[in-house]
Amino acid sequence: MCGIIGYIGNKKAKPILINGLLRLEYRGYDSAGIATIEKDGIKIIKEKGRISNLASIDEINNLEGTIGIGHTRWATHGKPSAINSHPHSDNSKTFAVVHNGIIENYNKLRKFLQEKNYTFLSDTDTEVIPNLIHYYYKEGNNFLESVKLACDDLKGSFALEILCNDYPDNMIVVRQDSPLVIGRSLNENYISSDIPAILSFTKDFFFLNDREFALLSRDSIDFYDNNLNKIDKIVKSIEWNTSSAEKDGYDDFMLKEIYEQPNAIRETIGSKLSENKIFFNDFEIEKNYLENISRIYIIACGTAMNAGLATKATFEKFCKIPTEVEIASEFRYKEPLIDEHTLCIFISQSGETADTIAALKLSKAKNAKTIAVANVIGSSITREADFCIYTHAGPEIAVASTKAYTSQVVLLNILALYFAELLQKVPTKEINQVKKEILELPKKAEITLRNVAEVKNFANVVYKETDMFFLGRGLDYYTACEGSLKLKEISYIHSESYAAGELKHGPIALIENGVTVIGIITNPNLVEKTISNMQEVITRGAKTLVITNQKVNESQFFKVINIPNTNPYLSPVLSIIPLQLLAYYISKEKGLDVDKPRNLAKSVTVE
Ligand code: AGP
Ligand code: GLU
Repeated sequence: MCGIIGYIGNKKAKPILINGLLRLEYRGYDSAGIATIEKDGIKIIKEKGRISNLASIDEINNLEGTIGIGHTRWATHGKPSAINSHPHSDNSKTFAVVHNGIIENYNKLRKFLQEKNYTFLSDTDTEVIPNLIHYYYKEGNNFLESVKLACDDLKGSFALEILCNDYPDNMIVVRQDSPLVIGRSLNENYISSDIPAILSFTKDFFFLNDREFALLSRDSIDFYDNNLNKIDKIVKSIEWNTSSAEKDGYDDFMLKEIYEQPNAIRETIGSKLSENKIFFNDFEIEKNYLENISRIYIIACGTAMNAGLATKATFEKFCKIPTEVEIASEFRYKEPLIDEHTLCIFISQSGETADTIAALKLSKAKNAKTIAVANVIGSSITREADFCIYTHAGPEIAVASTKAYTSQVVLLNILALYFAELLQKVPTKEINQVKKEILELPKKAEITLRNVAEVKNFANVVYKETDMFFLGRGLDYYTACEGSLKLKEISYIHSESYAAGELKHGPIALIENGVTVIGIITNPNLVEKTISNMQEVITRGAKTLVITNQKVNESQFFKVINIPNTNPYLSPVLSIIPLQLLAYYISKEKGLDVDKPRNLAKSVTVE
C-alpha cells in the first residue's frame, strides 16, 4: 500500500517526484505530498485526494530544491485528510518522513513521546517516527544513528525516506517488510516503492534487505547493516523496457495488460520448456527430495491464490503428491503441519504481499523447502525463499491482476510437469501432451482475445445489474472465482462464485428473474453436469452467458462465447480472458476508474 518516491541529484526534484507519484498512484490514492530541501530548509506540501490535487497547488511551483521525497497514501491509521497526509515532521521541523507500512506499537511510542512533551498533529501511526528520530538526535546522535535508534523501537512494517534540515545534501532510507528500491544514475539517485516508476531514469537498481540503511548523497550511496557496519551491495540491471510501464495508446493499463497476455505467456515459457526436458536455472530440487515429500502447500492471496487453485490439480495428477492451496493470511496464524517433508510454494506478482511473506517466513522456520513464484525481480519474497522462479509478465500496473494471473498459471503448470518428469509416476507421453499444448497457449490466447466485440456487447446489456453469479465445475470453478473477483474489484457489482453442483444446496434461492449467471464449461467430462445446473437457473429466469470450448446447444443460453480448445489442465489460462474483458468493459460502461478501483491498492504490504 502507498507509494514512496525520492530524488537526490542536480535537477529540480519537484517534477520528478510528481511524475514518480503519478506512476505509483495505483498503490494508494487517499492523499499525496512531497517535501524538498529548499535554501531555507525543508518545505512540505501535501493535500487530500489524488496527485492531481497536489500538483494543482500554486505553492508547489515555487519548490526549487534538488533533494526531495514524496508519498501517495493508502490510509491505515487516520482518515484521509491533509493533516494525516505524508510527509510528516517532528515538532521542531528538523526531519521530514514518508512511510509505507504500519507501526504496530505507535500508541506506546506516542505516549512515551508525549511524556517528553512532544505533541501530535495527526492521527497517523507514522507521526511518531520523525519525533522519535528527533528525540535521539537531540540526545547527541548523528542523523544516521538517530534513524537507526528510532527504527530499533519500531514494531511493524516500514519503508522510510527521511530528510534532515541539518544534512541538506543527504537522505536516509531504510526498510522492514515494506518495499523500496534504489535506482542509481550518474550523479543522481532515485528511490521508489517499485521499479516501473523510475524505469525511465535508470535500469540499475539496489535492493535493501530488512533493516539495512542507505545514506544517499548526489554521487554516492553508503549501505549499512542494522549495527551500522558498512556493507557492500551489488547493483542489479533490470531488463524491463520503458514502454512496458506506459499505456502505449491504450485507454487503461488494465486493457493493455489483458492484451499483453499472449506475449507474457510466451516470455514466461521462455526456454524452460522444449521438446526435451523442462529446465529451470539455479533450481536444485532433486528426485530424491521430491520422492520424500508428503505434501505441497501453495500459499498466496487474491488472484495469486486463484492461480494456485487453478494448478493444484496438475500437481496431484502428474506428481501424485497431495497439494493444498491456502490463503496466506489464514495459513500464517494456523499452526500448519509442516516440516522438512513439506514443499511450500508462494505465489506473488509483487513479491511484497505482507501476508504471503509472513507465511513464507513461518514455513522456513518449520524447515519446509520454499519456492517463490514472483513477477517482480528482486522483490522481498524472492530474497526470502530458498528458490525463486519468475513469471516474465513485465510490470503489471493496473490494480486488477490479469497478465500476472495467466503467467502464474502457465508457470505453475510447467513446474508441476518438471516435478512429474523427475518423479516419473505418469507416462512420459501424457506429460509431453500437456507440454505441447503449453507451447500453443500464446497463439490460443491471441485467438481468445479476438472475441472482444462479443464480450463488449454483453457488458453493454448487463452493466447496470447489481448482482451476478459465476458457476463452474472442477477447474472451471476456480476460473469462476477469479472472474467474480475481477468483476467485484473494478465494477463494484456484487458477485458470487459457486461450484455449479453446490448451487442447489442454498445459493439457488438468490436466483430470480433476469439475474445474470455466467457458466464456464471447459472440462469434457463435466459438460453435461454443468449444463444441467445452468438449466436449473434458466428455469428460474436467469440470463445466462456461457464461456466454453466444448460443443453446446447454444440456443438454450442468452449468449455463448467460444474459446479455443486445449488440454483441460490448461483451460483456466484461456477461459479467464473473456471474463477479464467483461469486468473491464462493465467498469468502462459505468464510467469507473478501471486502473485504480476504490479502497484497493496494487500491493498489499500491510496485514
Ligand atoms: C488481483 O486483481 C488483486 N488486486 C489482488 O487479489 C492480488 O492478486 C493480491 O493482493 C495478491 O497480490 P500479489 O500477487 O502481489 O501477492
Ligand atoms: N500507516 C501509514 C498511514 O496510515 C502509512 C500507510 C501507507 O502505507 O500508505 O498513514
